[in-house]
Amino acid sequence: MGLIVLSNRLPFMLARDAAGEWMVESASGGLVTALRPVLQDRGGHWIGWPGVTREELADPNAVLARAGQHYGFELHAVPLSNAERDDYYHGLSNEVLWPLFHDLPSLCRFRPRYWTAYEEVNHRFAEITLEHLAEDHFVWIHDYHLTCVARELRAMGSASRTGFFLHVPFPPLDVFLQLPWRFQVLRALLEHDLVGFQTVGGRRNFLQCVRLLFKEAEVSGKGDVRTIRLEGREVRVGSFPISIDYHEFARRAADPDVLAKVRSLRQDEPNRKIVLGVDRLDYTKGIPLKLEAFRSLLLRCPDLAGRVTLFQVVLPSREDIPRYQRQKVDIERLVGEINGQFTRSGWVPIHYIYRNLEWPRLPAYYLAADVALVTPLKDGMNLVAKEYCATHADGGGALVLSEFAGAAVQLQRGAFLVNPYDTDGVADALERALRLGRREQRVRMRRMRRAVADYDIYRWVDAFLEAAISRDLDDFPIHEEYFPEASPP
Ligand code: G6P
Repeated sequence: MGLIVLSNRLPFMLARDAAGEWMVESASGGLVTALRPVLQDRGGHWIGWPGVTREELADPNAVLARAGQHYGFELHAVPLSNAERDDYYHGLSNEVLWPLFHDLPSLCRFRPRYWTAYEEVNHRFAEITLEHLAEDHFVWIHDYHLTCVARELRAMGSASRTGFFLHVPFPPLDVFLQLPWRFQVLRALLEHDLVGFQTVGGRRNFLQCVRLLFKEAEVSGKGDVRTIRLEGREVRVGSFPISIDYHEFARRAADPDVLAKVRSLRQDEPNRKIVLGVDRLDYTKGIPLKLEAFRSLLLRCPDLAGRVTLFQVVLPSREDIPRYQRQKVDIERLVGEINGQFTRSGWVPIHYIYRNLEWPRLPAYYLAADVALVTPLKDGMNLVAKEYCATHADGGGALVLSEFAGAAVQLQRGAFLVNPYDTDGVADALERALRLGRREQRVRMRRMRRAVADYDIYRWVDAFLEAAISRDLDDFPIHEEYFPEASPP
């Protein structure tokens, strides 16, 4: 079975170098990080937007072809005009579905013209898919930008099997109902053969919406993959927590270049603990609250002055959207304020890095960090948490993780789970993580590494494809859930 993967973002973006020549850069974000090794492993086609508009570069395919050949799969660009980028990508995708699905409806801008552009671009994705579609292909559509592509493919007469995976959370019923195009989105999702979510909670929210908005829908099954029957069709719905290429991360941790970089990072911070944050620039990542929690730690633990440094890496993202620009200003102001408050000769408490980290820097930061501080307000999964654990083959390290990240489900037995809105609670957990004894540290890290190793990205792909085609749905593993503690600690 051949694979055609569709996502808004291709794994490579086009950008001009200093001489004005077009070059290919790696894209950031969980979707790309997770899927690129899959396509490298299996081959196939990847259809998506290369990050530049038609006005900027008329034919991106020639530049992209070189990158695709190198990685062993085919890349096909979907051209977008400036207006489409503004209304479909910045607009409906990032100013409507992104905040809504992350439970922040007050940040949504529900503009009718966004929806028109969204449907048009989804139609174009379907047209380009048809150009490459063979009979044995499985069309795997990813994320909230492309909910209507399968509907368009069917309208064009395609009978190919399609699956959809949502990388972000699916919101609770009362939040989803605020979407002016709630029927259209739900109906279009039901055009797939399989719809996958990161967590059992996401799948449950989706089924609740389906039951309410489509009274005639029948839902059956008890296991992890359920079946919806509607208008003579069958749609499967399941939860598939996305993961990483565990062995690749573990291998990188032993690379001499990485180890050399770790030594130099440690030499620069002698006798200090390193706390690490790595987040795409996004208001859902809760970076300002995280900085406040770090401030609270320094205020309550004077003994930690000069003994702990936070490295906060922020990966540039969606820089054309005003809310993202404001978020960057807020973060930089807070970093300056906290550093101004605590810096003393030989110690700056927060090292702020605003750029993409290339090899070998990211794994070196992971390995050098005594604690990773991953506190999104809401996150589909959060692969930084899993990458951090996979890199710590040395058994060291500790993870402070938001309860509202999908990763909390699998890492709950080893991480210090926190409510990111409770800055004192985060400071408490960070203090405990920093003062953790070696023995407990190892036990916790071993549990988390096992959870990531047992369900790596290849297992995730197999589970999804199996759920799309298998006859027997009872065999699927039942994923557990995470529930916050009922009583105060
Ligand atoms: C999240 C989304 C992805 C997206 C990524 C980066 O992980 O789920 O679909 O690609 O963020 O965002 P961007 O808007 O730059 O593609």
